[in-house]
Amino acid sequence: MSAPSLRPGRDDDAAGFIALIEACWSEFPGCILDVDGELPELRALATYFAEAGGMLWAAEQEGRIVGMAATRPMQHDQAWEICKVYVAKECRGTGLAHRLLDTAERHARAQGAQRLVLWTDTRFEAAHRFYEKRGFVRQGSIRILDDISNSLEFRYAKPLVGLVVEALDAAAAASAEGTLTRLLVDCVADGASLTWLPPLPPATAQAYWKSVSSQVALGKAVLLVAWLEGEMVGTVQLVLDTPQNQPHVAEVQKLMVRPEARRRGVGRALMRRVEQTMRGIGRRMLILDTRKGSAAAQLYRSMGWTELGTIPGFELGPDRSPADVVYFWKAVAG
Ligand SMILES: CC(C)(COP(=O)(O)OP(=O)(O)OC[C@H]1O[C@@H](n2cnc3c(N)ncnc32)[C@H](O)[C@@H]1OP(=O)(O)O)[C@@H](O)C(=O)NCCC(=O)NCCS
Repeated sequence: MSAPSLRPGRDDDAAGFIALIEACWSEFPGCILDVDGELPELRALATYFAEAGGMLWAAEQEGRIVGMAATRPMQHDQAWEICKVYVAKECRGTGLAHRLLDTAERHARAQGAQRLVLWTDTRFEAAHRFYEKRGFVRQGSIRILDDISNSLEFRYAKPLVGLVVEALDAAAAASAEGTLTRLLVDCVADGASLTWLPPLPPATAQAYWKSVSSQVALGKAVLLVAWLEGEMVGTVQLVLDTPQNQPHVAEVQKLMVRPEARRRGVGRALMRRVEQTMRGIGRRMLILDTRKGSAAAQLYRSMGWTELGTIPGFELGPDRSPADVVYFWKAVAG
């Protein structure tokens, strides 16, 4: 069978769109599609999105609609909403959902979108993993729809353009665990000085990020992540759980940037935001350690950190041979 082709959606695709959405919803007990009572726009969906200034796409295979996606501008924030993302069961895992989202994201970006937002039913767990893989994180409270399916919806969002660093709250941190797991595993495989030796099992990395989400929930850590052109490519933490007599101190931990996104200013932007965050929370002394001679050590020096000293052979390098560790500190001006 040939791969589905993508094309703009039309009003006369209505029967195909409705059949597709109905089939997807029927996978979840209690999800009931009442087109005329609750979603009459499905009868002329292309017009509906055109009137909202947006766009709709259909994926067609041998005359059948097997996928769809849409996007439209929101009223504020130069944000666009991603809507109506559905892929027929037999086409899942083929990359069709990514093709649809790539198309919608490209369109929104070309129209000036800075940020993407979407709502997804709390029951659609595979969809959550899909959006998370594409760099979306949970944001804001759960939306309660007064519909016959008793729908509750998570809101997901991500910056789409340029280099953006944001602090994640506990829900956002939990939704980023999968992406951060892949980031950590890849950075350790690349030889980074990040606690573990390669190969780092994904389950170990996942458990670590789960513990970070808990620390964020408890207010004991600030988790910053960086997006570059809509992709989550870097992170750093500010550990606030310092001794009672060091309330003004915080430790920087686990700065990392995807190997293929390095030397584009991401690490520097994350560290600048670390200092901004310190000012925001009224702390003024930062400490950290890293492997001597690493790119990270060079970055800290270039940002005015003071080198405290080196402990020879304090950790093992990726080849298991002893490596020197250098300690740094920096006072953050108020
Ligand atoms: C350290 C790290 C986060 C830097 O990220 P990055 O996004 O590439 O950094 P930037 O592009 O913002 O670079 C900022 C500065 O750091 C220094 N730097 C970065 N990579 C460097 C390298 N390979 N060699 C020498 N200096 C380097 C430079 O001074 C650079 O400024 P420049 O590009 O103007 O010359 C990244 O190399 C990384 O993830 N390393 C593995 C993880 C790690 O070891 N973390 C340290 C934990 S303490």
